[in-house]
Amino acid sequence: MTSKKSGNKAAQAPDASATLRKWATRAVIAFVVYVTCSFLDRIKDRWYVFDPKALHALAQDAVKAHPDDINAIIPYIVSNLTAEYPASAIALNTNSSEWVLNNAGGAMGAMYIIHASITEYLIIFGTPLGTEGHTGMHTADDYFNILVGEQWAFDPPKLEMERYRPGEVHHLPRGHVKQYKMHEGCFAMEYARGWIPLMLPFGLADVFSSTLDYWSFYHTVRITARENIRNLLIGKI
Ligand SMILES: *[C@@H]1O[C@H](CO)[C@@H](O)[C@H](O)[C@H]1NC(C)=O
Ligand SMILES: *[C@@H]1O[C@H](CO)[C@@H](O)[C@H](O)[C@H]1NC(C)=O
Repeated sequence: MTSKKSGNKAAQAPDASATLRKWATRAVIAFVVYVTCSFLDRIKDRWYVFDPKALHALAQDAVKAHPDDINAIIPYIVSNLTAEYPASAIALNTNSSEWVLNNAGGAMGAMYIIHASITEYLIIFGTPLGTEGHTGMHTADDYFNILVGEQWAFDPPKLEMERYRPGEVHHLPRGHVKQYKMHEGCFAMEYARGWIPLMLPFGLADVFSSTLDYWSFYHTVRITARENIRNLLIGKI
C-alpha cells in the first residue's frame, strides 16, 4: 500500500511540471500570435489604394449623371476607375456581366466584384426586390455608397431608423453591427478595407447552412481568387 502511494506521488510530480510547460508554451504562442496580428493590423494601411472620400465623390457624380439608372451608373463608375487607377497599382474587373447571387446575414442580393484583394474590396451590391438582414460583424471598415433606392438601418439603442439615399454613404466601422434593409429596389457601391479574408465566412456560410447554392459559391470563390491573384501579381496585397 505504502509503496504504491509513494509511487503515484512520484508519477504526479513530472505530470505537474509537464502541464506547466505545456501552458507556458501555449502562453508564448498566444503572445507571439497577438504581437504579429497587432503588428499586421498597424501596417495594413500601406496596401490601401482606394480612398473612401474619392469613391464617395465618384458615387455622387455617377448618381448625378444618371439618376435612378443603375445600368448607366455602373459603366460610369468602372470607366472612371480604369481611367483614374493605373493597371500597375490595382487590378480591376471590368466585366460588369459577372454577377453572383449572395446570401449573408439573412439578406439576399447579387454582387459584381470590381476589385478584390486581401486588404480591400469594391463591389456593386443590390437587388431590385429589396432585402433585409444583419450587417455581420466584420474586421474591416465598410463604406456603403447608395446608387439607387434607399438603405435603412437600425442601430439600437437609437430607436429611430437611419435612412441613406442615393449619393449618401453609410459608414459601418469595423466591429459595429446593425440591422439593415435595402428598401425596395436598391443598389450600392460597397467599399471595404481591413482584413478581407476574415469577412469571407460571413459572406459564404449561408451556402452550407441554408441555400446549398454551390453554383454561386463556385463563381464567387473563382472570381475572388482570380482577382486576388491578379492583384498579388502586381504587388497589391
Ligand atoms: C473620376 O471621378 C472623380 C470624382 O467624381 C473625378 O474627380 C475625376 O475627374 C474622374 N476621373 C475621370 C478620369 O473621369
Ligand atoms: C463576362 O462575364 C460573363 C458572365 O460570367 C461571361 O459569360 C463572359 O464571357 C465574360 N466576358 C469576358 C470578356 O470575359
